[in-house]
Amino acid sequence: MAAIVEVIDLFKDYFLEGHIPVNVLKGLNLSFDEGDFVALMGPSGSGKSTLMNILGCLDRPTAGQYLLNGGDVARMSDDRLSEIRSTYLGFIFQAYNLLPQYTVVENIELPLVYQGVRLDQKTKDRCIALAEMVGLGTRLDHRPLQLSGGQQQRVAIARSLVNDPHVILADEPTGNLDSRTSVEIMQMLRELNKAGKTIIMVTHENDIAAWARRVVRLRDGLVESDVRNDDHQPDLSAAH
Ligand SMILES: Nc1ncnc2c1ncn2[C@@H]1O[C@H](COP(=O)(O)OP(=O)(O)OP(=O)(O)O)[C@@H](O)[C@H]1O
Ligand SMILES: [Mg+2]
Repeated sequence: MAAIVEVIDLFKDYFLEGHIPVNVLKGLNLSFDEGDFVALMGPSGSGKSTLMNILGCLDRPTAGQYLLNGGDVARMSDDRLSEIRSTYLGFIFQAYNLLPQYTVVENIELPLVYQGVRLDQKTKDRCIALAEMVGLGTRLDHRPLQLSGGQQQRVAIARSLVNDPHVILADEPTGNLDSRTSVEIMQMLRELNKAGKTIIMVTHENDIAAWARRVVRLRDGLVESDVRNDDHQPDLSAAH
């Protein structure tokens, strides 16, 4: 199977006060196949979100290569990168919070707005269908503060799908959710993966990682382990 996401000898340094380097990623090599469902784990500070930001084309590596569907991201212009972000990738990031002044449907529409798509009844119907798919059909006109945490996360999932992305990047999609809601979110991600989406998900929790087909652990900016999980069926009993 072809790699859809590949990083080769990837380094990322941040610079404090403009000159004090913080070496975060230290020569990562990882390759994710189309249709994969990967849990990215590792201690706090090991570089998971840093890697996700690079994979999401929100940040550039200090050195090394990032190939997205075979194309070298470093050679792409900023315009091309934002086009890729809005057409190829779906984000479920906690930093990408919902906009409080907008309704559920309007929040789901946002990536289309950023993409310059003109909103009409057809785009609205698509957003309503996505809201229904994530179980929010009776909450279409609610604003984020009128929703529970799990419902807000479902809006974020619906929004990440509005462009029909190939790759979904999720940074702690079940962070702050109770175990029952977490299971619902994971069932949704599993269905999306079965439908062919490639999913890369950061989590701290083993029972969340158990839903993935593959578990990659980072430590100190390098891959510590990389284990396939294909036969594993997660234990649902915790949810009931
Ligand atoms: N903008 C920044 N400037 C300087 N250092 C940073 C910056 N962002 C992150 N770091 C440092 O990079 C390291 C990795 O951060 P990162 O957010 O990738 O960790 P993480 O694995 O996602 O951790 P967590 O599990 O706590 O979310 C941390 O030590 C952090 O302090
Ligand atoms: Mg993080």
